Amino acid sequence: MFDFKYYTPTKVVFGKNTESKVADLINEFGGKKVLIHYGGGSVVRSGLLKRVTDTLDAAGISYVVLGGAVPNPHLGLVYEGIEICKKENIDFLLAVGGGSAIDSAKAIGYGVANEGDVWDFYDYKRKAKACLPLGVILTIAATGSEMSDSSVITKEEGLVKRGYSSDYSRPRFAIMNPELTMTLPDYQTACGCTDIMMHTMERYFTNGGNMDLTDSLAEGLLRTVKDNAVILRDDPKNYDARAEVMWAGSLAHNGLTGCGNDGGDWMTHKLEHELGGLYDVAHGAGLAAIWGTWARYVYKNCLTRFKKYAINVMGVSAEGTDEEIAIRGIEAMEDFYRSINMPTNLRELGVNPTEEELKLMAHKCAVGVGGAMGSARLLNEEDMYNIFKASV
Ligand code: NZQ
Ligand code: ZN
Repeated sequence: MFDFKYYTPTKVVFGKNTESKVADLINEFGGKKVLIHYGGGSVVRSGLLKRVTDTLDAAGISYVVLGGAVPNPHLGLVYEGIEICKKENIDFLLAVGGGSAIDSAKAIGYGVANEGDVWDFYDYKRKAKACLPLGVILTIAATGSEMSDSSVITKEEGLVKRGYSSDYSRPRFAIMNPELTMTLPDYQTACGCTDIMMHTMERYFTNGGNMDLTDSLAEGLLRTVKDNAVILRDDPKNYDARAEVMWAGSLAHNGLTGCGNDGGDWMTHKLEHELGGLYDVAHGAGLAAIWGTWARYVYKNCLTRFKKYAINVMGVSAEGTDEEIAIRGIEAMEDFYRSINMPTNLRELGVNPTEEELKLMAHKCAVGVGGAMGSARLLNEEDMYNIFKASV
């Protein structure tokens, strides 16, 4: 077991109608003038944005509204948000939406609170020293950004998608009403469940460190999301299933399921970020499309964990050699993806890269991780290319 730090400063307000508490929470955390940031308009259509602005009006909190954060959010809008915040003397950010709106708000927060170009942080040139305080009203259970230290932004020039992590950006509060996720298209619900599971799987498939308690939490979380994803496929308005998945989303990425290990593998995410950057695919679907190929490429180097996963999470029989059990676990996981209409290769994802694009993605990925990365198995540029190629 490795030493670890566990830091989760976010106040979670969970349950029905909790969005009505937003003004109290902004007051509690000292917000005087707020930038409300949202995505492509689902919060306008659902009436949530109007409810939020009505609540702020009634409480006498002034605000400016900026929508338009797209899935795989763009740097251009981040720059726009930074300018607005400076001009309007904004001192608090409220993201209303999913990971894209939250991440875009985090980037705006860095840009306002630090000198210079905000992209420098995502380009690993320097580290942020502060971030504007941020609150969240979550509308999709997926990224865990509502409690995480990370944000992922795409620079339009060169389609470079990069993440930056620091505790400064952890939201002050997260309002989580599972009912708000009931307007999601089925595809986005399934993408969210995939992403949630993957955040814990990235930490689980590791060769560094071990803590039984962490593994038990991780396996319980994974089984919960797997079971409830199927319930939501058949019954999207099931409140309890929405609630299980929503809370799992936060716990999957706030550090809890990584305590005691080496930080995890994260290569499935790094490979997916290249797909998201180049083809603008939904993050969860991109993960599902690449995971099986990654797993087959690395499992022999991380056999104990793949075997444990197969038995404890996927419920496959413990008979046969370790390798046979591990492979059955990978196959069962791919069956699960298919059962919730997620892709298991790039073709099913709707992407058909040319040879040149495969090489480009592998190269950008290798540059992004500083040459090589991975705990289940260390992968270099050639390995990345091989995985992309085998997943076509
Ligand atoms: O943009 P709107 O109109 O709101 O529509 C969104 C979008 O089309 C829609 N949606 C969200 N809530 C809805 C809804 N539609 C109807 N009803 C609702 N209640 O769903 C679509 C996806 O939304 P988005 O915010 O893009 O999804 P998600 O939360 O999956 O975020 C994806 C982004 O987060 C990054 C991903 O790479 C991607 O850029 N990630 C962020 C992480 C983090 N900050 O910790 C970690 C992740 O691994 C991930 O990389
Ligand atoms: Zn993710």
